[in-house]
Amino acid sequence: MPNSPRSKRKKKITTKGLRKMKEEGEKISALTAYDCVMAQLLDQSGVDVILVGDSVATVMQGLDTTVTVTMEHMLYHASLVRRGVERALVVGDLPFMSYQVNSDEALRNAGRMVKESGVEAVKLEGGQVVCETVRRIVGAGIPVMGHLGLTPQSIHKFGSYQVRATTDKEADEVRRDAKALEEAGVFAIVIEKVPAALATEVSQSVNVPIIGIGAGAGCDGQIIVSHDMLGIYTRFHPRFVRRYAELAETMRDAFEQYVGDVKSGEFPSADESY
Ligand code: KIV
Repeated sequence: MPNSPRSKRKKKITTKGLRKMKEEGEKISALTAYDCVMAQLLDQSGVDVILVGDSVATVMQGLDTTVTVTMEHMLYHASLVRRGVERALVVGDLPFMSYQVNSDEALRNAGRMVKESGVEAVKLEGGQVVCETVRRIVGAGIPVMGHLGLTPQSIHKFGSYQVRATTDKEADEVRRDAKALEEAGVFAIVIEKVPAALATEVSQSVNVPIIGIGAGAGCDGQIIVSHDMLGIYTRFHPRFVRRYAELAETMRDAFEQYVGDVKSGEFPSADESY
């Protein structure tokens, strides 16, 4: 595979490197991971950013929302992922209510995330309302990734996971939030489930990379949840998820074959015994 990302760069990805990629027009690829083995596979694929997302709630913990994820959950998963990665930039999500109370608590939790798990940056949701917090965390030397548009931690406020910023007022707010986050010092911003034209405009209006999820092709990069794109998590199939595999079916078939082989005595064979 001479042109596959796997055979490309080995150089460690940094926040500065991502900025350079935007400047040079190279698209940024990002995916989520929650454990070491998956993180190793992602890193070997050449992905640029690995996010230890609080989507761990839905795709691993079997929950409906990300609201109940704790710092302890995130620290555990982030430390597993960090262990499996050499090249990609690893970002740890700060869970709901770990950064909203005040900026002291936010700074303490961002510090824990970096020190205890080894991730290189943190992500938090929100715009102007979190800018003071972003300044404090960045001021302490911890890179911060923003998250605008659909912000799943606020699901109970919005009541749905529908596309955001479809009115002029909300679109203006996204534009202002992106500028404010950039001024506060974020190194990148995830924009989730907003109209493609708005995400393109925002990408062109700020200097930091905009990483889209359900936000069209005009962003500086793309992120999706690995378990969604692999077809492992099949409870929902949002239109913005492209399935690159149907692993749920493959896995179920393998488990069924194993169960059949055990029942019939076909497994283990003499070669598989001592
Ligand atoms: O938690 C997560 O996986 C995320 C991505 C969907 C951006 O925030």
